[in-house]
Amino acid sequence: MVPSRPLPGTCRTLLLFLLLVCGLLSPGSQGQEFALRVQPQNPVLHAGGSLVVNCSTECPDPKLLTLETSLLKEPVGDGPGWVAFKLSNVTSDSRVLCAGFCNGSQMISPSNITVYRFPDQVELAPLPPWQPVGKNLTLRCQVAGGAPRSQLTVVLLRGQEELSRQRAAGEPTKAEVEVTATVLAGRSDHGASFSCRTELDLRPQGLGLFENTSAPRQLRTFVLPVTLPHLVVPRSLEVGTPRQVTCALDGVFPSSEAEVQLALGDQMLNPAVTRSRDRLSATATVTALADQEGPQDIVCNVTLGGETRESRQNLTVFSFLGPILNLSESSAPEGSIVTVTCMAGARVHVFLEGFAAAAPGQPAQLQLNATEIDDQRSFFCSAMLKVDGEVLNRNTSVQLRVLYGPKIDRAKCPERLKWKDKTNQVLQCQARGNPAPQVHCWQEGSSLEVPVGTPFFVNLKYQGTYRCQAASSRGTYTLKVVMDVQGRNRPFVTIFMAVLVIVGLVTVAVALKYVHGVKRRGIYKVKQENASLPLTSVQPIETVAEEPS
Ligand SMILES: *[C@@H]1O[C@H](CO)[C@@H](O)[C@H](O)[C@H]1NC(C)=O
Ligand SMILES: *[C@@H]1O[C@H](CO)[C@@H](O)[C@H](O)[C@H]1NC(C)=O
Ligand SMILES: *[C@@H]1O[C@H](CO)[C@@H](O)[C@H](O)[C@H]1NC(C)=O
Ligand SMILES: *[C@@H]1O[C@H](CO)[C@@H](O)[C@H](O)[C@H]1NC(C)=O
Ligand SMILES: *[C@@H]1O[C@H](CO)[C@@H](O)[C@H](O)[C@H]1NC(C)=O
Ligand SMILES: *[C@@H]1O[C@H](CO)[C@@H](O)[C@H](O)[C@H]1NC(C)=O
Ligand SMILES: *[C@@H]1O[C@H](CO)[C@@H](O)[C@H](O)[C@H]1NC(C)=O
Ligand SMILES: *[C@@H]1O[C@H](CO)[C@@H](O)[C@H](O)[C@H]1NC(C)=O
Ligand SMILES: *[C@@H]1O[C@H](CO)[C@@H](O)[C@H](O)[C@H]1NC(C)=O
Ligand SMILES: *[C@@H]1O[C@H](CO)[C@@H](O)[C@H](O)[C@H]1NC(C)=O
Ligand SMILES: *[C@@H]1O[C@H](CO)[C@@H](O)[C@H](O)[C@H]1NC(C)=O
Repeated sequence: MVPSRPLPGTCRTLLLFLLLVCGLLSPGSQGQEFALRVQPQNPVLHAGGSLVVNCSTECPDPKLLTLETSLLKEPVGDGPGWVAFKLSNVTSDSRVLCAGFCNGSQMISPSNITVYRFPDQVELAPLPPWQPVGKNLTLRCQVAGGAPRSQLTVVLLRGQEELSRQRAAGEPTKAEVEVTATVLAGRSDHGASFSCRTELDLRPQGLGLFENTSAPRQLRTFVLPVTLPHLVVPRSLEVGTPRQVTCALDGVFPSSEAEVQLALGDQMLNPAVTRSRDRLSATATVTALADQEGPQDIVCNVTLGGETRESRQNLTVFSFLGPILNLSESSAPEGSIVTVTCMAGARVHVFLEGFAAAAPGQPAQLQLNATEIDDQRSFFCSAMLKVDGEVLNRNTSVQLRVLYGPKIDRAKCPERLKWKDKTNQVLQCQARGNPAPQVHCWQEGSSLEVPVGTPFFVNLKYQGTYRCQAASSRGTYTLKVVMDVQGRNRPFVTIFMAVLVIVGLVTVAVALKYVHGVKRRGIYKVKQENASLPLTSVQPIETVAEEPS
């Protein structure tokens, strides 16, 4: 017992006296006949509390019965053989002594007062923001206050699982104790809650078990492989043309927490990120800007737990303008000079109709005197650009329209047409020209019009001379056509044919007579052979005979 503050005068003198007596008396020599009792024996009380200590003895005539203590004491009563004091504001462990004299010999009886207090603070030291899986993590529990330390246990917990249980050892006077435990961080520790708990076990003193628990702390664990993200980018990128870029990394845990950034030079991309189990994949559409032309790099980095894995790829940003194929006139009149120009951006080589331009970046040109056959002619231009050893080709074509005509082809539309009456005929007097001309054929003298290019039924009234006129915005073109409609005069034809037959028969008869001499039977032969003779002159007879049926 070490008095922690000056003792009141009486107490001090008594104590000094007592110590003196203790020192003089040799231990064990004093066979105390009457014992001095302290009640309660070795009490445990909450810090700041108070208690009544009763010193009593069987000694019939005890003298100077008192309680020696450094604590504030206040007599609360006495009687024969006993005296009681109230001790208040007991804040620390102390030892009290009941002392007195009986028949000249001294009696002493000690009692240890134990003060208990709950820890003022139980706190788990902050965990690292991210803990790599497979590395040891040290948990620290800081306990301030709490007494008696010998009965104070610190338990470190993962959820409800006890990781470590230790006595709050160290100097009992030290205000704070720190208890540590090491755990090997695993994937399952991601999101786990850690805490620590103090247990003040006063059950031996009949008071129970008092627990104080720290606020829980959540741990985040992660795995970021040392491999670099797999970046897939095109070798070259045309200005203004969107292309896809992908960046993927496997073995990332937890992939939901990982961040991916993709950038072309200093242009940040906005990737769509997919996370499936341990795989992280980002896809972005990149469109290079005109001012990014030249060598560039695409960067992909994956960040997790404060660590970053970064991949880079080089690419060339280029612009491929053209080819632009231009006609000096898209609709040129026949006989005019048309200039065809093909051009493309710098470094692009153009070929117009197979002819190469002088140098890359230069235009290719050709001129022509527009003719009818150039109408709808297509001009073809291809452009070639070498990017990073890769050859890119592009082509275009343009169609020329030549304005010509109108013209009607005499070969198809002859000057004289001989048609039979009551037959279907087609007047082939269509006109050529651009724009397409309108053709009309009118009979001279009357306004009878004959359709052009479509069948019509010919009769005698169509007999006559026609003016066929093709007209377009380019002018008119006129041709004269004479239509000769031959009527079918049947009696005349029959007589003419009969005469022909008779002349034929006579000729044959005379010929046979010469061949067979006087044979009279030849007449029969003549008649028979006549039926099968393939004489061309006879054919019209057959046709004429058949036609009326
Ligand atoms: C002190 O103890 C004696 C003897 O046991 C008893 O008679 C007395 O009542 C006690 N006094 C108090 C205040 O408890
Ligand atoms: C109790 O003791 C403490 C110091 O030990 C002191 O600060 C406090 O004022 C005391 N309380 C009372 C009520 O005496
Ligand atoms: C007191 O002590 C003396 C001797 O020391 C003894 O003779 C006497 O009997 C004792 N008296 C009582 C009441 O014990
Ligand atoms: C009181 O405590 C001391 C040590 O501080 C010990 O030696 C002694 O035996 C204790 N007394 C009792 C009655 O428990
Ligand atoms: C983690 O700590 C334990 C002891 O606490 C030790 O045996 C083990 O080797 C450590 N592991 C690592 C990866 O540091
Ligand atoms: C410790 O626990 C006790 C009860 O077990 C409670 O009265 C006290 O307020 C707690 N202390 C702290 C700092 O939480
Ligand atoms: C990841 O890449 C982006 C874009 O290049 C960059 O801004 C960022 O600083 C990078 N992050 C780290 C941690 O390197
Ligand atoms: C990218 O290009 C630079 C120079 O332009 C070169 O130093 C670097 O090695 C290239 N990186 C890759 C991955 O090709
Ligand atoms: C194409 O030709 C037209 C008419 O000659 C001209 O106005 C236009 O600027 C030309 N375009 C190009 C790209 O040369
Ligand atoms: C184009 O060719 C036609 C016929 O060959 C000729 O009459 C005309 O003068 C030519 N036009 C030009 C502009 O040379
Ligand atoms: C021209 O381009 C088209 C598509 O752009 C391609 O299909 C064709 O093969 C090209 N022709 C030539 C001759 O390059």
